[in-house]
Amino acid sequence: MILLTGGAGYIGSHVVRAAEAAGHSCVVVDNLSTGLVKRISCPIVELELASPDSVSLLARLMREHKFDSVIHLAARKQVGESVQKPEEYFLENLGGLGNLLLAMREVGLKSLVFSSSAATYGMPDVDFVGEDFNCKPINPYGETKLIGEWLGRAAGKAWGLRAVNLRYFNVAGAGWDDLADTAVANLIPIAFAALKAGETPKVFGDDYATADGSCVRDYVHVLDLADAHLAALDYLERDDRNFDTFNVGTGTGSSVFEVLAEIRTATGIDFEPEVLPRRAGDPPYLCADVSRIKNELGWSASPDLASIVSSAWKAVASAN
Ligand code: WQD
Repeated sequence: MILLTGGAGYIGSHVVRAAEAAGHSCVVVDNLSTGLVKRISCPIVELELASPDSVSLLARLMREHKFDSVIHLAARKQVGESVQKPEEYFLENLGGLGNLLLAMREVGLKSLVFSSSAATYGMPDVDFVGEDFNCKPINPYGETKLIGEWLGRAAGKAWGLRAVNLRYFNVAGAGWDDLADTAVANLIPIAFAALKAGETPKVFGDDYATADGSCVRDYVHVLDLADAHLAALDYLERDDRNFDTFNVGTGTGSSVFEVLAEIRTATGIDFEPEVLPRRAGDPPYLCADVSRIKNELGWSASPDLASIVSSAWKAVASAN
């Protein structure tokens, strides 16, 4: 039995469905700020993790359901918004995690998969970044994810929590047509929204020292990401591990122009992107070194930009 916070979200609902398909029973806790109840069929409790009364409510839920583990996905995750509203990000992302850990400690629930982020790395000076890189997040969103990892480590030392941090790279795609990414906050959904509005997708900078001048990222299918959470749960079953951190990516980079070319193919809409000046805080190249997750969890994801973009477009198109 798994407790999933944020399980009504775009990523969370994929993790719920993958877990159920693997035979797990799930209960979701979500504040429904961006989550959609219709995405999942398991029991769901509407709850704001950061609220003061959530510790007692979570502890009661945990005693009622005898969970084996928790997958913690609930968080605010928009980089730009985190710069504008840092207080809300620290309160919600870290306050929510803190309350969750207090409840887990109270009932003796000691298995956690934590949704972390490549944003913990900041602007690394390497193209393929490994988990031992000296993380220097450059925005409050990335800072809350790094501090969240530290919190899990400290709880492990204090009372035996076993935690696995999954640092998501650029997640996109859809495993089911009804699970489109409805938060238009990343390149692929932003480009789709522009095209649906009859506008032109924008490229933030084409003068980077990359093959085609646009930024390169590691795009991972949300279905592969969901599967990585199940691999992390299995890993936590091992008695020789208490705390670890894994990149979740493909180990292969795609440029913005390459993504937009796939979008032309998937949508059948021809367009010339509008090139704008660089966006502050964008590393030219940010891809995952995925050797650790492959070696330790036996998990890997094949780079498949075409499937990511076409599945995302199919879900967006079917949402009308
Ligand atoms: C990707 C590239 C933009 C929009 C994400 C988030 C978060 C994290 C992974 C989990 C950049 C360019 C974008 C547009 C563009 N994962 N772009 N035109 O910045 O890699 O950050 O990293 O936590 O999802 O932090 O993702 O999708 O915003 O941008 O040219 O209209 O696309 O400059 O190079 P990013 P993104």
